[in-house]
Amino acid sequence: MKIAVITETDSHETRVAASAETVKKLSALGASFTIESGAGQRSGITDADYETAGASIVKTAKAALKEADIVLKVRRPNKTELGSIKKGAVVLAIMDPYGHDEALQAMAEAGIAAFAMELMPRITRAQVMDVLSSQANLAGYRAVIESAEEFGRAFPMMMTAAGTVPAARVFVMGAGVAGLQAIATARRLGAVVTATDVRPASKEQVESLGAKFIAVEDDEFKQAETSGGYAKEMSKDYQAKQAALVAAHIAKQDIVITTALIPGRPAPRLISADMVASMRAGSVIVDLAVERGGNVEGVKPGEVAHTANDVKIVGHLNVPGRLAASASQLYSKNLFSFLETMIDKTNKTLAIHWDDELVKATNLTRDGHVVHPQFQPKEAAASA
Ligand code: NAI
Repeated sequence: MKIAVITETDSHETRVAASAETVKKLSALGASFTIESGAGQRSGITDADYETAGASIVKTAKAALKEADIVLKVRRPNKTELGSIKKGAVVLAIMDPYGHDEALQAMAEAGIAAFAMELMPRITRAQVMDVLSSQANLAGYRAVIESAEEFGRAFPMMMTAAGTVPAARVFVMGAGVAGLQAIATARRLGAVVTATDVRPASKEQVESLGAKFIAVEDDEFKQAETSGGYAKEMSKDYQAKQAALVAAHIAKQDIVITTALIPGRPAPRLISADMVASMRAGSVIVDLAVERGGNVEGVKPGEVAHTANDVKIVGHLNVPGRLAASASQLYSKNLFSFLETMIDKTNKTLAIHWDDELVKATNLTRDGHVVHPQFQPKEAAASA
């Protein structure tokens, strides 16, 4: 089992798909690692760390990929990388498959077995492999830190001889993994925190963290959670009621952190330009959904936008990557945990159980075809 790890080519990508710890663990299961020099640099992992863990370091990605049976990546391989990966190789990454049919086709044509880590089912056995959770947790924390950095005031209430500084008011929209971590972080910094979500289960979780829950709790709200634990897209009617409630609340907030996502759909628009205009000068909005279209009108991908009324809208891309060392450590562990289930420990060989529900849920391409039912090419889906 030859495993390759290379430097991510996307300019915003600071993470790497293996840590010294996972190299060591997989080597003990019979793997040999070839790692591109510098691959771990932006995550604080040196070539020497990898070498000590048992890996060989090579100069180029091409050299690392040449013989690999398994490729561990953060992002989907691009055309050049696909040209260097051998047919039949297994590639694990965050594949971002929705709306990228051509890229899936390219992976199929390259003959690789591509696995999308973000499609991992949310069942107990797979919790340790859940990249969405591991990365969202860090993003939620970092969103609060980014907001504190941009905010010209303190978070905690401070009573000093020179006067009292009031506690910052923080509103978190979307109380999933990222939102709950944002709530916990803002609370630790001393802010007064409120939060909203469309899933009823989130109410208790928000309250257990000491924040106040604010939502339109009608019949639609009571059924807004899918069996997989995700949110559904809400009706126009619900969205209008939610907008009215939020509009009144937002005007009184110092910081708003939005994290709302719906799997496979664009992010819901939760904050209009009018709502932003109602906020006080100096307020800060951090939109963690920016890569999926954004929750906030006026967010600019990769920028801190300043509005006419002096509100900052933070649209940083790849927020987990702004904590690259922690993000890579957890992501590598997610990959290790999945890959471990594909290894025959007696023979120390790759032995994928194609019927395993985790394999079926994440496998996008195999033997020259897109095999995942959700991403069938349009003609094939129509004739079926
Ligand atoms: P996500 O990243 O897909 O979405 C973030 C949040 O936005 C969700 O809480 C969602 O309900 C909310 N949202 C969507 N539309 C909204 C709207 N219009 N207004 C306000 N909020 C909106 O979700 P994430 O963070 O992945 O978590 C979803 C659920 O899955 C949570 O209950 C989480 O605890 C659960 N979960 C379960 C796991 C397991 O059992 N293994 C692992 C991780 C999470």
